[in-house]
Amino acid sequence: MKPVNVGLLGIGTVGGGTYTVLTRNAEEISRRAGRPIRIFAVADRNLEHARNIAKDACKITDDAFAVVGDPAVDVVVELIGGYDLARELVLTAIHNGKHVVTANKALLAVHGNEIFAAARKKGVIVAFEAAVAGGIPIIKALREGLAANRIEWVAGIINGTTNFILSEMRDRGLSFAEALAGAQRLGYAEADPTFDIEGIDAAHKATLMASIAFGIPVQFDKAYVEGITRLEAIDLKYAEQLGYRIKLLGIAKRREDGVELRVHPVLIPAKRLIANVEGAMNAVLVKADAVGATLYYGKGAGAEPTASAVIADLVDVARAATTDPNNRVPHLAFQSDQLHDLPILPIAEAETACYLRLTVADKPGVLADVTRILADQEISIDAFLQREPKEGKTDVIMLTHRCKEKQADAAICKIEDLSAVVGKVTRLRLEDLQ
Ligand code: HSE
Repeated sequence: MKPVNVGLLGIGTVGGGTYTVLTRNAEEISRRAGRPIRIFAVADRNLEHARNIAKDACKITDDAFAVVGDPAVDVVVELIGGYDLARELVLTAIHNGKHVVTANKALLAVHGNEIFAAARKKGVIVAFEAAVAGGIPIIKALREGLAANRIEWVAGIINGTTNFILSEMRDRGLSFAEALAGAQRLGYAEADPTFDIEGIDAAHKATLMASIAFGIPVQFDKAYVEGITRLEAIDLKYAEQLGYRIKLLGIAKRREDGVELRVHPVLIPAKRLIANVEGAMNAVLVKADAVGATLYYGKGAGAEPTASAVIADLVDVARAATTDPNNRVPHLAFQSDQLHDLPILPIAEAETACYLRLTVADKPGVLADVTRILADQEISIDAFLQREPKEGKTDVIMLTHRCKEKQADAAICKIEDLSAVVGKVTRLRLEDLQ
């Protein structure tokens, strides 16, 4: 049977892993796909490196446009990352009638609606399992495995770098800066770690999960994004004392009036399985009406774990390529004319419980003033921790019941105005994940 000819754009870590796994497991993969899948052409800026890795590829070039324009290529695998060049290459590949497999979450979170529309017009597949949580088949699970359900929310540890840093801060009492330096030494964090530590990478992934979970267009520009750069080790310690862990979560939650789409550090009960996901591992918890809660765990990055997702998409493409495009699994899980325009809610409307840490003068009436302000905003206190006073000051930590973000904002503003409160209030969000 004629093999599926893959044109690989970029043979770095994931591209190399894809080549290795496709070669090593060629027979198993072909038994599943119904025909062999082979790397036919490779484009990479580093020709020597490409030749060293892709020894059996028919064509090796430094011109990616030659690959997306090659009539012999059936599927383009885009692994170069970034926005502009990747967008141009993917749209050209689609225009040339080629299916596309991509690991590029940034591209799809920002340009996904345009790319999926172009793909529908040409009747080609754009598959992106590798874009979210690396080797974990979370796209397949949300899009197909849970198709019977009304999905209520998705909450994921979907950035390994930040999870590694948080584990180090907690286990070794390191500051954020020290833990980041360690992650860079070990090769977990990039030289420029901005996308990871500022939560942008997680927000790209959460955006894609929200779309396929709820059947809405991709809307990265409406996501609330907050990273871990301002987290202090002391808050991880206090959270622990209260029975919580702090994780950077990507959350997509459906409400009657819209969707909460947000990435930020969150306190979660230490007894939840997802709270115990440590180091660079990823995990996604999905709450759906029929099945209840399901949890998906595994490696979210790395050569072979990500290649596993890329190749699963290639197998899907091999099986579906000859079928009627109208009867294929839709790109965003829901039929394209059935996407809803449920709005992404502004963060002020988000509802979460809160962790508040403040330093106050150790004198009578201060806590009464603080709790009065919370009561005025109809915020109810759930738990309370006060440290030993030192030099006439003490740390007070409060957990509140759920409230709207704007209620918490208003209360924090007033608390910071109290003369007995020293400096700023540290506020973190808390999710029970029940
Ligand atoms: N940089 C990401 C992480 C992997 O740390 O999880 C690729 O999205």
